Amino acid sequence: MKPVHRCWAEVDLDALRGNLAWIRQRAGAGVKVMTVVKADAYGHGLKQIAGLLMQSGTDVFGVANLIEARAIRSVGAGWPVLMLGACLPEEVEQAVKDQVMVTVSSLAEAEAFSSAARKFKLVARLHLKVDTGMGRLGCPPEQAEQLLAAIDSLPQVETAGLYTHFSSVEDEFHYTQRQRTLFGKLLKSLAAKGRNFEYLHANNSAAMLLEEAGPYNTVRPGLLVYGVLPFGRRRIEIPNRDLIQPVLSLKCRISLIKDVPKGSRLSYGGLYTTTRTTRVATISAGYGDGYLRASSERANVLIGGERCQVLGRITMDQMLVDVTKLESVSHGDEVVLIGRQGSQELTATEVAQWAETVPWEVLTAITYRVPRVYLGAQAS
Ligand SMILES: Cc1ncc(COP(=O)(O)O)c(C=O)c1O
Repeated sequence: MKPVHRCWAEVDLDALRGNLAWIRQRAGAGVKVMTVVKADAYGHGLKQIAGLLMQSGTDVFGVANLIEARAIRSVGAGWPVLMLGACLPEEVEQAVKDQVMVTVSSLAEAEAFSSAARKFKLVARLHLKVDTGMGRLGCPPEQAEQLLAAIDSLPQVETAGLYTHFSSVEDEFHYTQRQRTLFGKLLKSLAAKGRNFEYLHANNSAAMLLEEAGPYNTVRPGLLVYGVLPFGRRRIEIPNRDLIQPVLSLKCRISLIKDVPKGSRLSYGGLYTTTRTTRVATISAGYGDGYLRASSERANVLIGGERCQVLGRITMDQMLVDVTKLESVSHGDEVVLIGRQGSQELTATEVAQWAETVPWEVLTAITYRVPRVYLGAQAS
């Protein structure tokens, strides 16, 4: 039997390629693009996405862990990869052996990489992270120069990169300026001493859209690669916005249609009671597929090119939708949860707003049981 998909994600590789081209142009000549492919390439499927990004000219990948780094290397041996998270003690030797660039915030971390590199007669390539206001990884900006000098004196390590991370570009202009200024001061001082880095980076997707390019030689976008614009209080005004296309659509099917009388309680907890005779479609996706339960009762889906309301609680494998207004609806019809149908579109950002979360979570929440179906010229 041909596999029947109850809930699936379509991944448009042509859109991905177009987004990377847009990012390249926006970044400017000579600026390297580090595509962030953490969390299974934001839920799109790491190996396929990495393969296409390699063909389309990404310079370096940003990952969260060594398993992701290995998956990339299985597609393209030797491709530069930076682990954006801090290594656990047991990961240090593996990172060095795998020749994955690593993020350090302290001398103790750099020393551990130096001794692993000596053990394996290799060179560990480090990126020193500076905490300008994210409050997660990184050293204080005022200690960065001293730390860099100490790291430079360690055997068999090379500081290939210097970077920082913005905490709220899409929302806060002034806070972001403060972060930029702190990092900028450090860069000026290092440049005056003739210190250069192969990778100097700060700009994530929102910074690429909302901030000046800055003196960096590398950009570090994630969300934008997948064609989703960060959403916040700052207004994004960019040329050729329509060239950025969402890569992922999430779809399912109608598995049952029922007419229920006025006064019927629907789904767990009976949050919703029909106020009229209602045609209810059961659809074949739920939070077990990663469609967030928090969007219960607020979410819309597309059926027959129209927005239809989700009724009551979203359950693990199914949800209920009001299709009373549709002229024609049939068992097996396709339902769009994220993506386009006819003239309508549901974006990952809109879905995120219903669930009171962010599009990053909407994409990365899509579970392993949802097959990723690759479309476009490069799909295999
Ligand atoms: C350190 C770092 N850089 C870059 C990114 C990419 O951010 P965005 O998806 O907002 O472009 C992330 C994402 O979480 C990150 O953690």
